[in-house]
Amino acid sequence: MRSDSSNQSTEKGKHNRLDEINILKNIEVGPPAGSRTSDNCSASVQEGWLGHVDESSVAVNLRSSGKSSLSLMPKERNVMVDDSSSSRNGGEANSLTSNLENISFAAKSGHSNDANPGRAISRAQYKPEKWMLPEKAEQSLTQLNLAIVGHVDSGKSTLSGRLLHLLGRISQKEMHKYEKEAKLQGKGSFAYAWALDESAEERERGITMTVAVAYFDSKRYHVVVLDSPGHKDFVPNMITGATQADASILVIDASIGSFEAGMDGTKGQTREHAQLIRSFGVDQLIVAVNKMDAVDYSKERFDLIISQLGAFLRSCGFKDSSVSWIPLSAVENQNLVSAPSDFRLFWYLGPNLLDAIDSFQPPTREFSKPLIMPICDVIKSPSQGQVSACGKLEAGAVRSGSKVLVMPSATIATVRSLERDSEACPIGRAGDNIAVSLNGIDGNHVMAGGVLCHPDFPIAFAKHLELKVLVLDGATPILIGSQLEFHIHHAKEAARVARISLLLDSKTGKVVKKAPRCILAKQSAVVEVILQEAVCVEEFSKCKVLGRVFLRTLGRTVAVGIVTRIVEEQQ
Ligand code: GTP
Ligand code: MG
Repeated sequence: MRSDSSNQSTEKGKHNRLDEINILKNIEVGPPAGSRTSDNCSASVQEGWLGHVDESSVAVNLRSSGKSSLSLMPKERNVMVDDSSSSRNGGEANSLTSNLENISFAAKSGHSNDANPGRAISRAQYKPEKWMLPEKAEQSLTQLNLAIVGHVDSGKSTLSGRLLHLLGRISQKEMHKYEKEAKLQGKGSFAYAWALDESAEERERGITMTVAVAYFDSKRYHVVVLDSPGHKDFVPNMITGATQADASILVIDASIGSFEAGMDGTKGQTREHAQLIRSFGVDQLIVAVNKMDAVDYSKERFDLIISQLGAFLRSCGFKDSSVSWIPLSAVENQNLVSAPSDFRLFWYLGPNLLDAIDSFQPPTREFSKPLIMPICDVIKSPSQGQVSACGKLEAGAVRSGSKVLVMPSATIATVRSLERDSEACPIGRAGDNIAVSLNGIDGNHVMAGGVLCHPDFPIAFAKHLELKVLVLDGATPILIGSQLEFHIHHAKEAARVARISLLLDSKTGKVVKKAPRCILAKQSAVVEVILQEAVCVEEFSKCKVLGRVFLRTLGRTVAVGIVTRIVEEQQ
């Protein structure tokens, strides 16, 4: 199955030519095909309400016609703003990102969140039905959503393709076809990547543009591979895939100069991707040090990468014990699913990549909470009058016949059927990536960036938010009035910084200054933002996945953060 926001008339259940690996081109946030030339690597800049935004952000406006037809009455939340509350935290000298999370949990007590007349029943009062909880006897493998991230050309798609081939998910026949076609186009080295890079433009340019989804089973997990684009123009696409990740593989190109290029503060994506996945809550990481063949499988090179990148990962909030370092070569098939055969890797005695994947801790799932499924993609089949919402179930469960509330259109729909891995499935539970076919709703009322939720537990819809943010190392300062691109789950909106309330010590969370004029790189602060259009959102303390945000400008992520308060809710 393939779906993206451009294929609004995709026939449901139609398999692409890769039947076995069933690649789901998940998210198309980038510009239309053909709108770039292969050497146009820098983000184009356009003027707008946002001021400066990268081209890709303009191409897709999640706030499309469907939403503008809604009547949105702003409603002040009746909460007292306790400036000091946001700064209370455990005081641990953690990494910046984990500290941000600590701060938020402490902050939650400062703002009463029961002041929500539209949502009378608290989520804590929810009682799941029996069918919603998995039976202990169910023997199915745990699903693990695994985001493959890293700098452009580090070999993410080649590694994913090779792994799928080794595990029998791509047949020999299929592989021969890729090899032949890639060679014909003078792109022989991309044969494995072609299994993931499906579109003509991706193949011609030799880069991934959208997130490809493929599946394989390891001993412990049903692994959903989310092969992300590394090119900086497509970071928004990478983000949409990575927000669904339970764990991640950060692919590094070990070649001389390439590792360094990836680590470059302004042009490299290694740091940005690592910071982003950590800010999405991913705390288990494999660093796949790829292309070791290009450095003669040198232990010195591997150790240098560990020391330099390791220090950076620590500063992002990754614990050393949750990071595995695997030297490998995707092209020469070294250390992927078996111990290396090349004698030059004699010094490495650790697990191979597949074993390292099996060593991930199983993700915790919110089975007993009310339904939440951020919609990453919508598939419409006008001929059959069908609409399906695709995404990862973050909490709760659905089955055919379930009533769901589709936000932000606030329309109730009935689940007609479900698909998982392109096959019909009876029940979808937290952690599953599913396509939910809906009855009783106009297709225009289902949109990417929206959320499916339980009718009795509607999520908020707001444009005025208080955030706790951390400005990233090397980023431009954020000022009052700064116009930024605001990302939250699969939604993206133009935002203006209306107020900087507090500057915080990014290590301890203590208030350093009240009402500062700007936030510099590596500083943490409490800010209020006003979005151009409202988004589906929750406070981070109530729902992590709907309360994690990041801010971008000029094609780069400048800050990560969390929603500490919904200042004004739309009805
Ligand atoms: P983007 O998705 O565009 O960011 O690139 P990617 O990270 O998916 O890289 P891709 O798999 O497209 O590979 C880029 C180039 O690196 C191709 O020419 C691959 O053949 C090459 N490559 C990948 N893995 C290895 C490896 O282990 N050794 C060597 N020498 N080259 C490799
Ligand atoms: Mg790729």
